[in-house]
Amino acid sequence: MTKLLLSIHVIAAILAVGPIAVAASMFPRFAKQADDERSAAIARVLHRICRGYAVFGIAVPVFGIATGAQLGVLTDAWLLVSIALTAIAAGVLALVILPAQRRLLDEPREMLGTVSRLAMTTGIFNVLWAVVVVLMIVRPGSTTGA
Ligand code: HEM
Repeated sequence: MTKLLLSIHVIAAILAVGPIAVAASMFPRFAKQADDERSAAIARVLHRICRGYAVFGIAVPVFGIATGAQLGVLTDAWLLVSIALTAIAAGVLALVILPAQRRLLDEPREMLGTVSRLAMTTGIFNVLWAVVVVLMIVRPGSTTGA
């Protein structure tokens, strides 16, 4: 059972977080060229990918917590830190990145500062995922295996 939950957790992490990281990183480049119809259309698709996969991404913490419960590691420090970082990253996505993308699509004229701020926030967001993945693999302080 644990193996099934862990497999779903890791598959969801790869298939949901991966596309969001790529699409969110590409978004500012295309949003900047909103005068060009084709770039504007691509920016809209990238935003839709970020939004859609964000919903699917809820499976990552859900199955992560289920796996942690099965393994009895829910109160381990490495997991608590991972849960906190995942919550921060989810908040940045839902409350900062997605609304900023939406604003840029609606008001491409008002954007100079917004695009560079969005690019920076997206970079921070991707670093958060990288840190969580390393924590998941290294599990510092864990006594339950390599
Ligand atoms: C609420 C957040 C999360 C919880 C509770 C959680 C929980 C867990 C647990 C309990 C394991 C099994 C560790 C073991 O075998 O002892 C695991 C493995 C893993 N998690 Fe998460 N996780 C969370 C978020 C994430 C995120 C956001 C990602 C990726 C972006 C991720 C990627 C992975 C990967 C790749 C593994 C496999 C590591 C390995 O077996 O070497 N997890 N997670």
